[in-house]
Amino acid sequence: MKDIGPVNALYPSLTTIVGCVADGRANFLAVAHVGIMNHGQPQYLTFGINKAHHSGRGILEHGEFSVNIPDQDLMVETDYVGIVTGKNTDKSGVFEHFTGELAHAPLIRACPVAMECRLYKTLDFETHDVFVGEVVKTWAREDVLTDKGKPDPARVRPLLFDMATLGYYALGAKVGDCWNAGKALKRR
Ligand SMILES: Cc1cc2nc3c(=O)[nH]c(=O)nc-3n(C[C@H](O)[C@H](O)[C@H](O)COP(=O)(O)O)c2cc1C
Repeated sequence: MKDIGPVNALYPSLTTIVGCVADGRANFLAVAHVGIMNHGQPQYLTFGINKAHHSGRGILEHGEFSVNIPDQDLMVETDYVGIVTGKNTDKSGVFEHFTGELAHAPLIRACPVAMECRLYKTLDFETHDVFVGEVVKTWAREDVLTDKGKPDPARVRPLLFDMATLGYYALGAKVGDCWNAGKALKRR
């Protein structure tokens, strides 16, 4: 093993598009630094947004946002909203969007999965605001759901992001069952 320095190696991560209303219009930005806070009800998720970005203002003003999961076909649009800022560019027309339960959480129609979130907590962290959101409602295209009504990653075809190689990646095949594969060692 070679020491490669204090490199954050928690990649690839899921690429999402966070939507909000800022300065009275919908705004979207790419966010790949996302986390899951818990499992249970209610469900909370977290991500960090640089304070210099336009979106943080909208999230702080309205306390609402959406987290949309783009598929690989949306790579170009996802990257675009990750390189231009709503400060000087109107990004409201990049995606057709709709409003669900929350008035300030624009949901992207083309994304196979999209969540409406209410801001639960904000952590002022150095250059970033870390937002913790409560998932209020989740929307999914029917063709990406399993027969149990859950999003199937193989059908969602998410875009994965890697910082080291600055690349987008596709998901590989399922290789095992969670909370099950390890039982092989228990039996020994
Ligand atoms: C793949 C990708 C992932 C990104 N992830 C984040 C992130 O997690 N946090 C962040 O603050 N910016 C992230 N960015 C940068 C913002 O999306 C970008 O600066 C955007 O233009 C900000 O838009 P806004 O000023 O309209 O809010 C990412 C960009 C790309 C291309």
